[in-house]
Amino acid sequence: MTTFAKSLDGLKICCIGAGYVGGPTMTILAEHCPQIRVCVVDISQPRIDQWNSDNLPIYEPGLKKIVEEVRGKNLFFSTDVEGEIEKADIIFVAVNTPTKSYGIGAGSASNVKNIELCARTIAKCAKSAKIIVEKSTVPVETASALKRVLLANSNGDVKFQILSNPEFLAEGTAVKDLEDPSRVLIGGDQNEEGLEAIALLVEVYAQWVPRDKILTTNVWSSELSKLVANAYLAQRISSINSISALCEATKADVNEVARAVGTDRRIGSAFLRASVGFGGSCFQKDILNLVYLCESFGLPEVAAYWRGVITMNDYQKERFAKKMVRSMFNSITGKRIAMFGFAFKKDTGDTRETAAAYVSKYLLDERAKIHVCDPKVTAEDMFMEFKYTLNITEDTLPELKSLISINNDPYDAAKGAHAIAIMTEWDEFKDYDYKRIYESMQKPAFIFDGRNILDHKKLIDIGFEVHAIGKTF
Ligand SMILES: NC(=O)c1ccc[n+]([C@@H]2O[C@H](COP(=O)([O-])OP(=O)(O)OC[C@H]3O[C@@H](n4cnc5c(N)ncnc54)[C@H](O)[C@@H]3O)[C@@H](O)[C@H]2O)c1
Repeated sequence: MTTFAKSLDGLKICCIGAGYVGGPTMTILAEHCPQIRVCVVDISQPRIDQWNSDNLPIYEPGLKKIVEEVRGKNLFFSTDVEGEIEKADIIFVAVNTPTKSYGIGAGSASNVKNIELCARTIAKCAKSAKIIVEKSTVPVETASALKRVLLANSNGDVKFQILSNPEFLAEGTAVKDLEDPSRVLIGGDQNEEGLEAIALLVEVYAQWVPRDKILTTNVWSSELSKLVANAYLAQRISSINSISALCEATKADVNEVARAVGTDRRIGSAFLRASVGFGGSCFQKDILNLVYLCESFGLPEVAAYWRGVITMNDYQKERFAKKMVRSMFNSITGKRIAMFGFAFKKDTGDTRETAAAYVSKYLLDERAKIHVCDPKVTAEDMFMEFKYTLNITEDTLPELKSLISINNDPYDAAKGAHAIAIMTEWDEFKDYDYKRIYESMQKPAFIFDGRNILDHKKLIDIGFEVHAIGKTF
């Protein structure tokens, strides 16, 4: 029976899943560990082809340059999942774990079918000892389930150790977050072999992360910490958004309140920006997962507490859309609306769970005509998200396409429009010539700033009727 690798020299790492997590994390790892061969594998041939081309499948500031430096040296992208698993000493699993849409736990539990599939493939191909690292965000106790699948499906000669190493990067700042993480978390079994596996992974990260930032725990604490970290971040957004509704009712200004509250050292100022609501593939999914865990363990009060974070987020998106309709004389049928931004946040082209799709849904139900302008989102990405958010089928797609389109010139998108809705906080939106835009619009010309990024006083002076989050004019 072979044992686990002991040194980094000649180590082989395989990462299953070439997405927003697998691609960037392995690129940074390869950059800092030239002695390690890193191969990212995926079942999707188009995705791997893109990673091997000039047109990477995801946009992250600074990523392309580093990929170009290490690709073909010690970083590779391949669809040979089985071959690369066989060669590897350490296998990261970074496949998607979306919320289940059917069966037990539908609408809240995470679907770990991709993870289980990976475990079965690893069991089938492994001929030497493997350390398997859960990079995907998973429910607590997934590591134990993985171990059972591996042991039940391998011939018993191969040793496996499962580690949990959740990823905390944020899209849009992935390179910065990976180069200089707040912490790296590694959970593993607290026995001799588990500690040996943890030590090897610590050594990998220690090539560029200070050792005092590498935290080690048992597996369950590590798995749960990821869900809790995302739940806390989302909770802060929902908390300030709840206060934004009160500010609009009382004439307080949510930015002033956030500043006054955030300067309290015990509270801190991060994640206190009121907005139209959070999006992204993780926050909602991970909170729902936490809710499901609490319910499964007979803790309904705890589950209800965390579900409130999502309820508030849904309320904020709906409140924003309703305010648009109400302000525009309760009728937006046939009215042109320029939507600036569709990505769920700036500096990414990712549209998963974006607030823009939910707000669009309300506006399209009223038969508005939407022209979307986003520096990174393509029409294909947008319609893909609508398929998910609006349950669009091939039959209803033509009607949708007649109501919403992408127009990447903001001046064109706003020409003849009744309103502009700011949905993403892209910096360039602040620099547009709003006087020119105003002159080309229908009057009264409305701006609904869902991210509070524009100079509202200046816009009012130009002649716009401005609506922002958590403040009135
Ligand atoms: N996106 C983020 O910002 C972020 C941050 C931290 C953690 N996470 C977590 O990381 C995980 C991955 O997220 P992502 O955003 O990178 O997902 P993604 O959808 O961008 O990428 C997942 C990839 O896995 C591939 N895949 C699925 N099953 C496979 C299999 N059996 N074999 C080979 N490839 C397979 C898919 O083809 C896809 O390319 C999720 O659990 C997510 O919750 C995401």
